[in-house]
Amino acid sequence: MVIKGLKGVAAAETAISHIDGINGQLIYRGIDAGDLTNNHSFEEVSYLLWHGEWPDQQQQQLIELKNELKKQRGLPDYIEKLLISLPAEMDFMSVLRTAVSAAGPANKEKPTYSDAIRLTAMIPTIIAYRKSHLEGRAFVRPSAELDHVENYLYMLNGKRPSESQRKALETYMILTLEHGMNASTFSARVTVSTESDIYSAVTSAIGTMKGPLHGGAPSEVIAFLVEAANSANIEKMIREKLNRGERLMGFGHRVYKTHDPRAVALKTVLLENAGKDAWLDLSMKVETTAVNLLQELKPGRSLYTNVEFYAAAIMKSIQMESELFTPTFTASRVVGWTAHVLEQAENNTIFRPESQYIGRLPVK
Ligand code: ACO
Repeated sequence: MVIKGLKGVAAAETAISHIDGINGQLIYRGIDAGDLTNNHSFEEVSYLLWHGEWPDQQQQQLIELKNELKKQRGLPDYIEKLLISLPAEMDFMSVLRTAVSAAGPANKEKPTYSDAIRLTAMIPTIIAYRKSHLEGRAFVRPSAELDHVENYLYMLNGKRPSESQRKALETYMILTLEHGMNASTFSARVTVSTESDIYSAVTSAIGTMKGPLHGGAPSEVIAFLVEAANSANIEKMIREKLNRGERLMGFGHRVYKTHDPRAVALKTVLLENAGKDAWLDLSMKVETTAVNLLQELKPGRSLYTNVEFYAAAIMKSIQMESELFTPTFTASRVVGWTAHVLEQAENNTIFRPESQYIGRLPVK
């Protein structure tokens, strides 16, 4: 029997994260992901995902991780040259995939924690370097004074972000670090299951993340929000869309049949900023109107905002360009990918499913 898309098939055991789609829960290493955004940094949660436990109480391990991430941010000369030689029309995800592939070692080595740190450190730099090249301005080098998320915004914009911008992006990045056996994580695990190297695994994952059914959707949410912003009557506009059978971008989820916990946590950040940013206010207005209309016109379907809706709103609120949404998602998800690669390599069985032949048989 073929199970299309491996829907409902558990393809591996993992201790990294768990999704409970019925109760709307995302658990990182035994802890509710939504509880991690207020008091923990990107680096601390990454440490938790990689190691399965918090850094020591004296914070020595956290300091070491932060220092290592800072040390590994730079790009070799040949990667910088590669980034400026790729055609200007090449999309960011293809550039990222090419640069990560080129940065990999010549020889296959068993994946290590150091590799995971190096990959996590370099991805924001690749994105920022390419962006500065496309804009024809000098690259703003990483700052050793800044932590991971703040430094990313600093490299992108050439100035330190405000506290609310840093907090908004850090919340988003913590909530998107990891999400079970999604398509890109599966790709990474399949690649490393052949005893290939971690750079090859992350290259596979980036190629998978690029597709619009996975990481490439949020710009459609922006288009929906722009349409709402330009509409004289938001309720009428959404009602007409639903009556035409259109789907509202940023609503509904295949796994979550209740509130997407990541959307709930992102909304909390939005609420903290309500009134200070027109995009955040608009997002909340659209959400309320759309959820009411979905309940009226699609009763019993349990349609709420998904992570993409608030991701788009948050990205807009920090003035991140749409073309950087998926690369930024990649900059956080690389932590989940590498955690899975380490877990797979630790207790490996090559992925080698069967296919069901439906072609012709030889004529005897
Ligand atoms: N707007 C309006 N109606 C919807 C929406 C929506 N966003 N999502 C589902 N529905 C309706 C369908 O029309 C269908 O109605 P029907 O019973 O009258 O035919 C019913 O809900 C069930 O639809 P399915 O496609 O079976 O639901 P599924 O759970 O498989 O779909 C999906 C999930 C693909 C995410 C869907 O909700 C959707 O297309 N959403 C909009 C796109 C989007 O926001 N994608 C990002 C998802 S988050 C992420 O990938 C990280």
